[in-house]
Amino acid sequence: MTDERRNASIRIQALHPQYAEAAAQWASRLGLRQDGETEFALQLGDDGLQLVELGDKAPGPVRVDFVEGAAAHRRQFGGGSGQMIAKAVGVQSGIRPRILDATAGLGRDAFVLASLGCEMTLIERQPLVAALLEDGLQRAALNLDVAPIVARMRLLTGNAIELMRNWQGEAPQVIYLDPMFPHRDKSALVKKEMRLFRPFVGDDLDAPALLEAALALATHRVVVKRPRKAPAIEGSKPGYVLEGKSSRYDIYPKKKLEPGAQV
Ligand SMILES: C[S@@+](CC[C@H](N)C(=O)[O-])C[C@H]1O[C@@H](n2cnc3c(N)ncnc32)[C@H](O)[C@@H]1O
Repeated sequence: MTDERRNASIRIQALHPQYAEAAAQWASRLGLRQDGETEFALQLGDDGLQLVELGDKAPGPVRVDFVEGAAAHRRQFGGGSGQMIAKAVGVQSGIRPRILDATAGLGRDAFVLASLGCEMTLIERQPLVAALLEDGLQRAALNLDVAPIVARMRLLTGNAIELMRNWQGEAPQVIYLDPMFPHRDKSALVKKEMRLFRPFVGDDLDAPALLEAALALATHRVVVKRPRKAPAIEGSKPGYVLEGKSSRYDIYPKKKLEPGAQV
């Protein structure tokens, strides 16, 4: 990540006076200013926390929504345990592995796996992204249909490389990694979220260290999601690959998952 990217200017904004106090708390937790001219804003309103680029031509806001929209649709009609991501992490009849998603992002992949019954620990190091995710999880916990799913998702904020190297307690059976890939294709920028997050997240150039730490910690397998044509992460070679239309899962097996392996 370049310094220019890390310094993208952002402020917190309460969309109604009733959110001023909560906004001040986020400002102090995240070290954000509450006024002045900025390129981006983290806004707090009736729909929770959202990140938005300010200005006329900017795309709309991004927030985490596990209750409605794409996440709800995929939960209801998304193909269940037949989905490629489910196969990649080893979900089968009687097998619901305990998974660490060490690159949680907005939590979409983790939510899919939690919907299938996997116990998930999530790690996100970008504080703004982690804040959006924390807020989305809290709102989802208030919804009767989704609460049991997000109860299986525990969020940690920090660098997964350090957290995995110093892991306390029972090791995850499967570690799932989906680091940002350095895109040279400008068309990727058209994607709203990509455009919003790239100034803050940058490219995850330390993915080789992430893979190495994951391989040292996972008891059963490590799974890496990649763009279909991208090279594997530098370092150990995957044992096998599952290829989809736009993405691919590189699988680094360590031990066979057995029925009853869920916790
Ligand atoms: C492509 S996004 C993941 C998207 C996610 N799979 C989803 O479904 O929403 C990659 C995320 O991993 C995070 N990340 C990358 N390396 C990390 C590390 N070492 N520790 C914690 N988070 C990391 C980045 O900040 C970014 O938010």
